[in-house]
Amino acid sequence: MSEQPDQQPTSTVNGTSGVYRNGNGSNSRHQSQPEQQPSAPQANKFSPRSAQIVGWGYHVPEKVITNFDLEQIVDTQDEWIRTRTGIEERHVAAAPSETSASLGIRAARAALESADVAPSKVDLIICATSSPEHIFPSTASIIQDGLGASNAGAFDLSAACSGFVYGLSMARGHILAGDAEYVLVVGAETLSRIVDWTDRGTCVLFGDGAGAVLVAASDVPGGITASVLGSDGSGADLLTVPAGGSAMPASLETVSSGGHYIKMDGTAVFRFATRVMAEATRQVLGKAGLSVDDVDLVIPHQANVRIIQNSVLKQLKIPEEKVFVNLQKYGNTSTASIPIALCEAIEEGRIHPGDNLVFVGFGAGLTWAACAIKWSVPVSKPEETWWRNTQRQATYQAAAARSMWKRAIRRVYSQFPEESRWGGGRKEGNEAG
Ligand code: COA
Repeated sequence: MSEQPDQQPTSTVNGTSGVYRNGNGSNSRHQSQPEQQPSAPQANKFSPRSAQIVGWGYHVPEKVITNFDLEQIVDTQDEWIRTRTGIEERHVAAAPSETSASLGIRAARAALESADVAPSKVDLIICATSSPEHIFPSTASIIQDGLGASNAGAFDLSAACSGFVYGLSMARGHILAGDAEYVLVVGAETLSRIVDWTDRGTCVLFGDGAGAVLVAASDVPGGITASVLGSDGSGADLLTVPAGGSAMPASLETVSSGGHYIKMDGTAVFRFATRVMAEATRQVLGKAGLSVDDVDLVIPHQANVRIIQNSVLKQLKIPEEKVFVNLQKYGNTSTASIPIALCEAIEEGRIHPGDNLVFVGFGAGLTWAACAIKWSVPVSKPEETWWRNTQRQATYQAAAARSMWKRAIRRVYSQFPEESRWGGGRKEGNEAG
């Protein structure tokens, strides 16, 4: 099908031009704003449908571990950690109830609330995580149940710390293909559970937390305009959790040798990260038809401030004030680092409609990913009212009740013998078939 350069945006979400609709059926706050409308980036110029980030939220566990606390656990010093990484403290999931899914649910609820979209409107949940609850079921399915997102498909995305940006690219693809109107992309981690707290080379780096965005179909130009995804599996052994998968199933031996903890060649990962962060940023800007000078804010994966300085600042010559860094407070939260940083950048007034953003990440795999985003929605949150809050709490309680009810029914059902469950008909049918 040939592209029509003069074609005006025609597609709509729920039939309202230039607007998506919220879960209550009323027009959302993210309406097209002609006076603020930036020109559409090249990669998206002729597309009548765009994928916009319309909601965002994050949640981190309460417990904070400072570098000074770590001095009591391993042979390290606050000064070493700060000067070699930029990290000062990190949040850690101390309570057993704080899991990747429970943190993810909190972040996802916040994202839906900020967009004023009901969970039932979500078509797809992508959970990027390096510390999933289980090999299966997916953490995304547990989040789907916790949200009461009864109309959503759900899957986990394994691309380590690049996973959130991979997820954004998947969300964009689903939306532009017309397969989804709303996609939740969640990055959720409890890395503290897979970190070896006796290994000073890794335990000082990581933190726990979750961030989420709601990506919506829209006919407002802009949004996620381009993405770059990369992988080099020859570096798979540089950053890995060796045991617990099918290559090295969990056993007494893998547990006693610490095979289920993160193992890393920090220097090799550092070199790789410094190279790909700059390259991926250049590539994604090229795809979006932008130059480095057009960028208003880069939100890089928050692993090590020296990686950010050596790549984004030095190689690309992007000034410090255009790069968002918050890793001093959270450490490396893997897939959650970019969405948490996005939320804080918004809170700090660093993002405005019309801004060109770049999200760029790297991680185990080895993998890397970048997205270019033309921010096209207002950054204010909907007004919080008593009624809205009550409605939401009722929705969450209904979701929890529905889930419990389904489990209970399954338990009761499983008590009956097979014949009485199917009234004998299925068996006969099977035999006949
Ligand atoms: N406290 C004190 N000393 C430490 C230490 C710690 N927590 N960790 C390592 N050291 C020591 C090393 O043992 C080494 O000592 P030696 O010279 O006596 O052998 C010295 O510090 C230098 O170690 P080195 O590994 O060369 O430091 P570095 O400058 O490369 O910094 C990292 C180490 C891990 C901070 C850095 O390589 C890094 O950030 N890599 C990328 C990791 C990453 O981002 N991973 C996640 C990817 S998503």
